[in-house]
Amino acid sequence: MNTDEYIDLFDELDSDEQTDNFINKDKRRQRFPERHFKYVREANAGFLKGQDDSSRSFNFTYPAARFESWWLLESLGDFYEHKWITDVLRRVKGGKEASVYLCRSGPAIDEPLVAAKVYRPRTLRNLKNDGQYRLGRTDLDADGNAIVKDGDLHAMAKRTNYGEELRHQSWIAYEFQTLETLQSVGADVPQPYAMEKNAILMGYVGDIDTAAPTLNSVTLDRDEVAPLYERVLRNIDLLLSNDRIHGDLSSYNILYWEGDITLIDFPQVVQPESNPAAWTIFLRDVTRICQYFASQGLRRSARKVATDLWTSHGHKVMQEIDPGQLDADDPNDRKLWEKQKSSK
Ligand SMILES: Nc1ncnc2c1ncn2[C@@H]1O[C@H](COP(=O)(O)OP(=O)(O)O)[C@@H](O)[C@H]1O
Ligand SMILES: [Mg+2]
Repeated sequence: MNTDEYIDLFDELDSDEQTDNFINKDKRRQRFPERHFKYVREANAGFLKGQDDSSRSFNFTYPAARFESWWLLESLGDFYEHKWITDVLRRVKGGKEASVYLCRSGPAIDEPLVAAKVYRPRTLRNLKNDGQYRLGRTDLDADGNAIVKDGDLHAMAKRTNYGEELRHQSWIAYEFQTLETLQSVGADVPQPYAMEKNAILMGYVGDIDTAAPTLNSVTLDRDEVAPLYERVLRNIDLLLSNDRIHGDLSSYNILYWEGDITLIDFPQVVQPESNPAAWTIFLRDVTRICQYFASQGLRRSARKVATDLWTSHGHKVMQEIDPGQLDADDPNDRKLWEKQKSSK
């Protein structure tokens, strides 16, 4: 593919953002000269080119548009070659950061259907909101091991192309590793199967015709409300026992299927001990859960529930910091974090 084609590809894959750009176009044009847009588009094209390491092919049922099909081959080709999957049947959902596809499993998996979460190129190219979550979190490489080499750390801080690649790999590795950890302790999460540079393969929740809805769209039976609330709290507790806060927990990231729940969407997990905004992020997670259950008739004080869980794991309720204000690459934020840690 030539650069123009990569640019088209980027636009097609990020069509939601395009709409956004269209709506805000006039305002944005006032702020940025035309060459800015050209630069962004070319940088994105360069990123995609870097992803293009082979010309793969396998035929799948899902009628993907031309470039989406290319992105799927790039992202799922290894799963296919390693016989994790034999077909892509349909797109379950295009989320804000990733699209999830229903796939037919290969012989390596002993359930018939699996879900492939394929990150959107924009998410990977531009992890602009990852700073607050990365703070105090060791970055992981493609094998899930901590990145410790000075050169790698430097590339990530400087945001070179290579550094960006490490960053996005780490983002995905956290999602995969968290699924593995939680699965092994009996939490309600999809079974993780495999990870590639753009994608994760995991257990699918739903049946061939319908994927499990997210809890926000479900009205629970009266007698389900309390047990499912307890179930969610049990999962939050298990997360804390394993040094993790979900970081984006809400009824939008919980699937509901035949009376059971499954927590999903973990790339932004936060470690309670090392992120200065940990308490605030945790309180936000618990608050969103309490909001959903309040809509189903069960009222709890989010602050009390969060405080009880938090302190039962030996953590102190900290000064509240707006997590949106923190950036792992900002030396002042790092200082703040060190100060908080030493004053405990
Ligand atoms: N294992 C799964 N089984 C069935 N549907 C899933 C699964 N994982 C995700 N989904 C669907 O895909 C959507 C997007 O996945 P999610 O991990 O939440 O990514 P995003 O970061 O884009 O929100 C979810 O809201 C859900 O509808
Ligand atoms: Mg989600």
